[in-house]
Amino acid sequence: MSERNTEFFPQELQDQLNDHFYFLKQDVYGNDRIFFENAGGSLRLKAAVDAQAKYSAFPDCPERNHDVALDIRNVIAQGTEDIRLFLNAKDGAIASSLTASKIMFEIITAVAASKSGGNIVTTAIEHPSSFDACQFASEQYDHELRVAAADPASGSIPLLNILELIDEKTVLVSVILTSNITGAMHDIKEYAKAIKEKNPDTVIVVDAVQGAPHGVIDVDDWKIDALNIAPYKMFGNRGVGYAYLSDRIASLPHHRLLATDTDNWNVGSPTPAHFAGFTEIIQYICHIGSYYTESTDRRTLIVEGMKRIHLQEQAILHRFLHGSADAMGIKEMPAVTIHFEEANGINQDLILALTFENMSCAEAVQKYGEHNILVYARESSSHYSKRILEAVELKEIVRVSPIHCHSKEDVDAFLKTTQEILLAANVHS
Ligand SMILES: Cc1ncc(COP(=O)(O)O)c(C=O)c1O
Repeated sequence: MSERNTEFFPQELQDQLNDHFYFLKQDVYGNDRIFFENAGGSLRLKAAVDAQAKYSAFPDCPERNHDVALDIRNVIAQGTEDIRLFLNAKDGAIASSLTASKIMFEIITAVAASKSGGNIVTTAIEHPSSFDACQFASEQYDHELRVAAADPASGSIPLLNILELIDEKTVLVSVILTSNITGAMHDIKEYAKAIKEKNPDTVIVVDAVQGAPHGVIDVDDWKIDALNIAPYKMFGNRGVGYAYLSDRIASLPHHRLLATDTDNWNVGSPTPAHFAGFTEIIQYICHIGSYYTESTDRRTLIVEGMKRIHLQEQAILHRFLHGSADAMGIKEMPAVTIHFEEANGINQDLILALTFENMSCAEAVQKYGEHNILVYARESSSHYSKRILEAVELKEIVRVSPIHCHSKEDVDAFLKTTQEILLAANVHS
């Protein structure tokens, strides 16, 4: 297993990046706060929010021919091009919808409707947006639903658990890129290759909502049929989800204004502000890339930027686990258990799933809050978490989800706070 990177961004870059975000150090009331809840919706780029506001103010309809309308059309075209570049989508269609969930339902339903009497394979750790879509579509179109089991140690789905469910009647396989609860990352290229070897006709659909802000996406290289993302999880705004659909599935019958192209998945008029916001996300990623490469090619800059984000997040994770001269790492605190990470190694996203001795997760979240650190408890009482937690044999976890713009100081503050909480609760650290 490769070693995890421990090198942080150079301080100069870190300082530059900090200026790009709203509410990095304080909440909306002006109180100091460390926002380690990025898996629930990430810190927002100022430029993405400002672009959204700017274009939302324009009354002009893009489907006219006057100057402003043409400008707005360019914004939509650039945004669409940027989505393609981010995903490396060289063919097929780009779809947009109000949420990433909605678009996932649309895609899975369209694929399921194209056949009947087959089976649909999903996994036990899928987000409900893809899992429920698979269940709904199986019932509607007479397919058997097959669910691949998780490995409780890693919180991932071993490839073999998926492969054993696939046969010649498998219509669709849905697999998550990165779990938003366990932080386990799947090597989609390897998974897709093995799935296609077993059934070359099956459609592969990937939920990349959690994975997108943390690493490179390459649908062309991975050879998959559909993949969705949500800008508000990747430094941008709420209100839209995007997806790639391969040529093979883009023209399947689906909800569409019938006068438009058969591979058009945008029902109704697009929102220029959303596309403007997405372009700002890409500008930001390219800015990180350009710190490390001279290239001016936008995809090259995106790849470099996302690779550097991934490396920075690995360094942050390493410091959480092992601490530093300034703060004791979580692994040294016997009253805290960190799940999944050890089994995943470098395939662990920057999500810490923690449980505490003699302290419920809700209590721990409350205590972190009192120390101005926002984290979140994933509990079986939530329909978003129940099935997934059961699949990994846990009842609850505290989810700690920072992003790349967090610093060594933020990590150390968390570690020191954890020790204080344990001490106050009389749990030995
Ligand atoms: C992994 C994953 N997939 C899909 C979604 C669905 O996103 P939305 O609720 O914005 O539709 C989420 C949201 O939390 C998620 O974490």
